Amino acid sequence: MAPPVVVALGGSLLHPDEDERHVWLQEICAIISDYVQSGSRIGLVIGGGAPAREAISLAKPLVTDVSALDEVGIAATRLNATVVSQALIAAGLDVCPGIPSDVVSAARALSHHQIVVMGGTSPGHTTDNVAIRLAIEANADICIVATNVDKVYEKDPRQFEDARPIDSMTLSDLQQIVGPPVHGKAGSSGVIDPIGVQAAIDHDLPLAVLDGRETARLESALTGSPFEGTSIRVG
Ligand code: UTP
Repeated sequence: MAPPVVVALGGSLLHPDEDERHVWLQEICAIISDYVQSGSRIGLVIGGGAPAREAISLAKPLVTDVSALDEVGIAATRLNATVVSQALIAAGLDVCPGIPSDVVSAARALSHHQIVVMGGTSPGHTTDNVAIRLAIEANADICIVATNVDKVYEKDPRQFEDARPIDSMTLSDLQQIVGPPVHGKAGSSGVIDPIGVQAAIDHDLPLAVLDGRETARLESALTGSPFEGTSIRVG
């Protein structure tokens, strides 16, 4: 069996501000349908986006424990994962029923189904790390992180107008940018979870970061064609 590919789909992609989200979800289903047509397998890990932020902010004045707030975020990621899973099932694809709650069972499910969709697992990290862990567990060649920025930047482009985008870099270069492997507060996010970057370094897993709003870029990366985004090689 050829190795599967794992894709982290940022929750912000499912809940954009504009009304085009059904079009986006339809395109994602079509791309995945094409991808699995030849027998390929794919693991999809879905982020929490707006429902996670909303639920965490509702709980925050009453719940001070970071792990407890993480649990609220995890519930939102699984809600979003259920939406994607049901959309793929409705498209007639071979999707693992239910949402696996850990990467070991998700990797196992990938040997019985072409598609596995999951959200978060346990407190202390984000779904980027879950996707990277699933890629390692399932012996994937690469983990693609589809998010709402076009590339990794040398510094935060939301804060620095002169931040330059990077086309190609090593995992160590990426770690210099995202910082040491520590969990921020529930619901906070940088370009990619530093805990996941450390796991990728430890297991020699290449990554790709791209703008998931531009579905053609995800399609290119999935099929191994040149794509617009950042390629992150081992080193
Ligand atoms: P996300 O993976 O969506 O995190 O999980 P994010 O980086 O904040 O959001 P995006 O990618 O920009 O949309 C939402 C929150 O759920 C908790 C964390 O608090 C995270 O910030 N979470 C998620 C966990 O604690 N463990 C998990 O496995 C997943």
